[in-house]
Amino acid sequence: MRVVLFGPPGAGKGTQAKKIAAAYKLNHLSTGDMFRSAIKHDNEVGREAKSYIEKGRLVPDTLVCEVAREALDEIEAEQFVLDGFPRTIPQSEWLDDYLGSKRGGSLHVVNMIVDDDIIVRRLSQRRMHRETGAIYNLALNPPPADVRPEDLIQRVDDRPESIRRRLVVYHEQTAPLEDYYRKSGRLADVDALGPIEDVFARIASTLVEPASVQ
Ligand code: AP5
Repeated sequence: MRVVLFGPPGAGKGTQAKKIAAAYKLNHLSTGDMFRSAIKHDNEVGREAKSYIEKGRLVPDTLVCEVAREALDEIEAEQFVLDGFPRTIPQSEWLDDYLGSKRGGSLHVVNMIVDDDIIVRRLSQRRMHRETGAIYNLALNPPPADVRPEDLIQRVDDRPESIRRRLVVYHEQTAPLEDYYRKSGRLADVDALGPIEDVFARIASTLVEPASVQ
């Protein structure tokens, strides 16, 4: 199965991608996580991506597609859930070209719908576990009692000015992908509000593979 989770920052892509990956035994590829790891290791990709991410801007397409290609090549472009990629029309076109040259099933694109005011609330309360990468929300999805507060970090791009910038960037550069995927009949709209388990059930109901022809 090949899945793309599409939606604004804070829609719950990372939260749901982890659950989908576990339930369907898929590789979870998050370009955001890849860049954060590169920044942590202070490598060339990290140094290039850092200033864009901190300002809430998109990393240039060429670098993003290079990083995505490497990750997809590693798993032979099979059994994946993509979280945060593609996010521009050139990235979607690149992905279609890339997958067109590989064997495998069609792409399920899930459009996670959440209003901007909810996003601001979700992101300003988000915390990540520094070791496991687990995602929590101080108000809506609190960490278990055995998680030490000092192990929880706030992302630099979850500051209010950065959240606002990311939303503008999303509406300008990423939202047009909705049309791109809708026109090709690959987009499934999902209401991403409500308990995490309910959102997961809605996504799962869209992930039905066509019966194979004998
Ligand atoms: P990335 O890490 O992909 O960030 P994002 O897309 O902005 O999305 P987020 O991680 O902020 O949110 P999410 O949708 O995963 O929500 P989450 O599950 O955490 O990218 C970061 C940066 O890297 C980008 O800004 C860009 O600079 C760069 N980048 C990455 N990919 C790129 C690309 N392809 N092209 C160019 N640049 C790229 O949930 C959010 C909060 O809500 C959490 O606190 C969670 O606990 C809570 N929550 C989740 N679901 C629910 C629910 N149902 N109810 C209540 N709370 C919930």
